[in-house]
Amino acid sequence: MSSPSESSLLDVVPVLPVVVAEDAAQGVAIARALVAGGLPAIELTLRTPAALEAIRAITAEVPEILVGAGTIVAPRQARLAADAGARFLVSPGTTRSVLHAMQETGLPFLPGVATVSEVLAALEAGCSELKLFPAEASGGTAFLKAVAGPVPQARFCPTGGITATSAPSYLALPNVGCVGGSWLTPGDAVASGDWERVAKLAAEAAGLLR
Ligand code: 3PG
Repeated sequence: MSSPSESSLLDVVPVLPVVVAEDAAQGVAIARALVAGGLPAIELTLRTPAALEAIRAITAEVPEILVGAGTIVAPRQARLAADAGARFLVSPGTTRSVLHAMQETGLPFLPGVATVSEVLAALEAGCSELKLFPAEASGGTAFLKAVAGPVPQARFCPTGGITATSAPSYLALPNVGCVGGSWLTPGDAVASGDWERVAKLAAEAAGLLR
């Protein structure tokens, strides 16, 4: 299920790794470890000055991974990420201008929502695949179960506060396609270059059922 031609971004991997890279080489090393663990997708967040460079480097050096840009919080970042080679976009929340800028790139994208009104606004804009953020703080699985009643057409990638322990309860829900999280790249493992540990965490996540 790793082909970028997957019809749905939510069906590529059960866990979408949310990654912060301090430099391009670190991004490449993380991407390689995720692929080694069997998770060929990465949401590289635009939270460091090196993020766009990391996306470019991963695109060039780890072509087997589907690299997307996360933390799109301003419209111009959508085009910058697309130009750097991002193949999908993710925003933690959604304004009209951010949504429009992501649409303009022609790339698949997951707009962030945290309330039912935001879900309805996204559906009105033609988006039925959404990031629920911050998932745990917004009600977690209880929120998702409640939303499935009135708005069954919305599907989610919940992210924010999810762990290896809580991920299965999210993945068991019919309106969840995948979950996102940073637990696959613990700060100490990344800082010390412990790529075996990252690959092991990725392998455990890749084996989660949905
Ligand atoms: C995100 O941008 O999706 C979150 O920062 C990831 O949340 P987590 O670090 O709690 O997994």
